[in-house]
Amino acid sequence: MSAASVALPPESSWPAAPRAQLVQPSAPPAKVLTSASMSQALRTMQYAVRGSVVQRAEEIERQLASGEGAALPFDKIVFCNIGNPQAVGQKPITFFRQVLALCDLPAESGVDHPSASLLFPPDAIARAREMRAAMGPGGTGAYSTTQGVSRFREDVASFISRRDGHACEGRNVFLANGASAAIRMVLTATVSSADDAVLVPIPQYPIYSGLLSLLGAHQAGYMLDEAQNWAVTVECLQAAYDDARAAGKCPRACVIINPGNPTGNVLSRDVLETVIAFCVAHRLVLMADEVYQENVHEPGLSFVSARKVAIEMGERARALELFSFHSTSKGLLGECGKRGGYMELHNIDPYVQSQIFKLASSGLCAAVPGQALTSLMVRPPVEGEPSHELYARETADIRQALAERARLLVDGLRAIPGFSCNDASGAMYAFPAVELPPKAVEHARAQGLAPDEVYAVSLLESTGICVVPASGFGQAAGRYGFRTTFLPSTDELRRAVRHIAQHHEAFCQRYA
Ligand SMILES: Cc1ncc(COP(=O)(O)O)c(C=O)c1O
Repeated sequence: MSAASVALPPESSWPAAPRAQLVQPSAPPAKVLTSASMSQALRTMQYAVRGSVVQRAEEIERQLASGEGAALPFDKIVFCNIGNPQAVGQKPITFFRQVLALCDLPAESGVDHPSASLLFPPDAIARAREMRAAMGPGGTGAYSTTQGVSRFREDVASFISRRDGHACEGRNVFLANGASAAIRMVLTATVSSADDAVLVPIPQYPIYSGLLSLLGAHQAGYMLDEAQNWAVTVECLQAAYDDARAAGKCPRACVIINPGNPTGNVLSRDVLETVIAFCVAHRLVLMADEVYQENVHEPGLSFVSARKVAIEMGERARALELFSFHSTSKGLLGECGKRGGYMELHNIDPYVQSQIFKLASSGLCAAVPGQALTSLMVRPPVEGEPSHELYARETADIRQALAERARLLVDGLRAIPGFSCNDASGAMYAFPAVELPPKAVEHARAQGLAPDEVYAVSLLESTGICVVPASGFGQAAGRYGFRTTFLPSTDELRRAVRHIAQHHEAFCQRYA
């Protein structure tokens, strides 16, 4: 008889074990992994977007759900801390979800079901058939090749070629689990010691500071000029470069975020030319984080890719080595949970590219449903196809709502005495500067806290609005503020602005 088929009597009828066997005489052995023995690089790494203020918000949310928070002056948390559109009500785009569902469903329950055409438009069925064929028999449930499904990479390459007006090849595209995974790969391939430095904008999206501290490399922050709408200037780049050199570091790469997070600025062609020329002159690889390329709200402004500018600079930028990143999490999709995205390698040494391939191989492949969504993002329904009208309406509505909310939020914040705020021309955030009473600053410093962290916690605890302290992104000394998204509904945002104003007045009175 096999062990698996032995029938045991019910546990309650087992003979009692001798007492000595039940009692553990000694304390459990000390853990091998402790705060002292674990990776100290991980301990010191910071990621403000999900930092202490957000953890406190999640705690309050649990209290509200359990009834413990009944005495609080609000009944829900308004999460303005992270660019996660669908978490705050944005609807997915119908065509993309239809095709994804048909890619995921077994053929007999989806594309081959006799009633499929009653539920799905013909172009969604046709696209799903095409994508299923591209993925092969394992579909979304099988690993793909390391760089991602070849057909999907070709879709990305065609998109980039169309966007830039310059041919791109699928072999230079890596599909990734969101832009984050691609950025991690490039930084891992670029820096390996405390002597290596990367130029990073300040303020910046903290994946850069976080990964650099994890990798043990040096962050050379270049200040964006708030007085000039967060401009990137050659003086600031040069100052950061010189400081790093003076500290004995070797700058290897420079990051731009366009449109900017948290700053919302959109880089002009001229500025991009300046950055590219700087990178070429100083032999820096350029990392262009372009995840918000679809999110430009300001009339008259438009996104232009670093790749396009570099190619059009001709001989002056022929030496530029460039990694560009894009994502399904932002734009008009807001599909953060699907973890889709890509990076494109431009003029990267073939040996280095092969090593990045090896690194990607060690993660096997990006999640295949995210790869499928990336293909859809870059190849939406076109005019004449049955789903185009709905797609055009849905994306236009999202675009318009974002533009309205950006205006509403920035105007509302600017009207609060003590606040100043640049335009949120792109991306999904406003990044106001807030004048804090000196006593509040002293009080925070005495507790070893950043003053704007104390401010953000106070805002959260009195209004339920969760923002990220500006110190989490880096900022000029003596500046305080926060980053807030403009993703919640227009009504909610209007209410939030009112509550931020009321809280600010009360906060200033408290520390007068
Ligand atoms: C500037 C920037 N880059 C990269 C990312 C990462 O995006 P994901 O990994 O979801 O593609 C984000 C997310 O907020 C971001 O703001």
